[in-house]
Amino acid sequence: MGVEIRVDGLKKTFGRQVIWEDVSFTVPAGQISALLGPSGTGKSVFLKNLIGLLRPDRGHVWVDGVDVPELREKHLYELRRRFGVLFQDGALFGSMSVYDNVAFPLREHTRYGESKIRDIVMSKMEMVGMVGAEGKLPGEISGGMRKRAGLARALVLDPEIILADEPDSGLDPVRTSYLNQLFADINYETGATILIVTHDIGTARVLPDNMGLLFRRGLVMFGHREMILSSTDSAVNQFFNARREGPIGMSEEKDDATLRSEGNGGRSRARPAPIPPQIMPTNGRPRPYQARPGQWLQSHGVQAPPGSFVDDEGRDWLIDWDRLAGRWQEPPPPPPAPHKA
Ligand SMILES: Nc1ncnc2c1ncn2[C@@H]1O[C@H](COP(=O)(O)OP(=O)(O)OP(=O)(O)O)[C@@H](O)[C@H]1O
Ligand SMILES: [Mg+2]
Repeated sequence: MGVEIRVDGLKKTFGRQVIWEDVSFTVPAGQISALLGPSGTGKSVFLKNLIGLLRPDRGHVWVDGVDVPELREKHLYELRRRFGVLFQDGALFGSMSVYDNVAFPLREHTRYGESKIRDIVMSKMEMVGMVGAEGKLPGEISGGMRKRAGLARALVLDPEIILADEPDSGLDPVRTSYLNQLFADINYETGATILIVTHDIGTARVLPDNMGLLFRRGLVMFGHREMILSSTDSAVNQFFNARREGPIGMSEEKDDATLRSEGNGGRSRARPAPIPPQIMPTNGRPRPYQARPGQWLQSHGVQAPPGSFVDDEGRDWLIDWDRLAGRWQEPPPPPPAPHKA
């Protein structure tokens, strides 16, 4: 099962530029979480701090009882084996074929023979829809394909924790849907802890169990999807509903005068959009740590935005969860052992 990541009081600067500070939250074990934020708020830098590629100025990153910023190279190397990481640019080796890129972690971290490596590589290539491109060089395939090859490489060691920096950027909408489905299926099958950085609020609204927003050199909020998607906080509401009104401006945060002219005083006047149902694993069953729709709202006494939890076919998941989640398909208990006379 997955491992939680607990971030405590994290601060990162480059020279005199503070990227973010006082960042504290827990990425829950075995769940899918997403980190969002305007461009340049330090999302990629944050992921690199989690695996010790960059060191914070202050604070802790606890993974399974160890504090990552404290680790020496040798221990970092061992820890990274437990992570599958997709970097924003794919980070493929340009002079190696796609096949060799995907096989790389297996050759580096295991003693598997080439035929076993071939089986694993080809199964991951199939998962990401890349069969047929094994022999190509990264420079010979499209940006979206490089992303998917990078994802295949991140998955070959069956990691306990998957970090993916904008896995959906450069993908067309249909492939983005397939990719989101893949994350839901991987989480169902392996229980890996998944943290995705994305700009795509379409993805954010239907895939993760939890999400957070980086803005103004800090973490504005992190929590259950129902908390975020029903929030009236101005930045959260603006971002997750893709509105122009709010504190997030085109190039940076808006100044006070602009904000006053919009007259929103920190609260959003626009109501949150309906909360859509989450993507289910292909087999229709809930993931091990997937919460029943509406559970968070109910236990916190928050009204769901009108029209929430209704899917494209008009079914209401608040009412139909048990049936739609496929629990009725649960196999019957095994028959009792035959009675010996
Ligand atoms: N190695 C580095 N040295 C100095 N500054 C850096 C370094 N890496 C990132 N930065 C700066 O840190 C800030 C955050 O960068 P980062 O790439 O994390 O943003 P981001 O939120 O991932 O943006 P995007 O959504 O565009 O990918 C930027 O101002 C960037 O210039
Ligand atoms: Mg980035």
